Amino acid sequence: MRAGAAALILACLAMPGTGRSYEPRVNYQLQCMGCHLADGTGQGGRVPSLRGTLVPFSMMSEGREFVVRVPGVAQSTLSDTDTAALLNWMARNLSDERLPADFKDYTASEVQALRSRPLAQVEAVRRELLQRIADARARETGGSSLRPGARNAIPP
Ligand code: HEC
Repeated sequence: MRAGAAALILACLAMPGTGRSYEPRVNYQLQCMGCHLADGTGQGGRVPSLRGTLVPFSMMSEGREFVVRVPGVAQSTLSDTDTAALLNWMARNLSDERLPADFKDYTASEVQALRSRPLAQVEAVRRELLQRIADARARETGGSSLRPGARNAIPP
């Protein structure tokens, strides 16, 4: 019977949107905390901290695309609605950055459109986004950007 039970659990996990719906904090604990830890700080060298990235990524369209397309988000068993609510909760509760006034909440339709194309070159895209944020901040503080022409599309 153990193999049968395991198969049932796997079948449930493999069907997006069929799981029970919980509030975002609980969904985070069930689906994300194992890797990202309770406070979002991650695990050095293996899982990045979300605390300084989620909010700035969310302020750029390419960054939002990255956030929804990373494997942990795109391939979770949560529905599009629960995923959007989860990301909005994380931006407010697991971030060192204050939410900017013009922060736009993630929506179910945005999640649905983006998650269907999971990201292959996660590391490269992530590095590029971090560089663009660093460049923008350097410009804000009067420093000069070494890389003015940033790419504006994320490869598959
Ligand atoms: C198996 C471990 C694991 C699980 C589970 C996981 N993640 Fe991740 N997450 C990662 C890793 C590793 C990265 C860095 C990008 C990559 O390599 O996928 C990441 C990146 C991210 C990012 C982008 C932030 C950044 O700085 O790169 C977000 C947002 C995120 N995860 C949210 C979630 C959410 C929400 C869940 C739960 C629904 C989740 N993750 C579950 C491992 C995980």
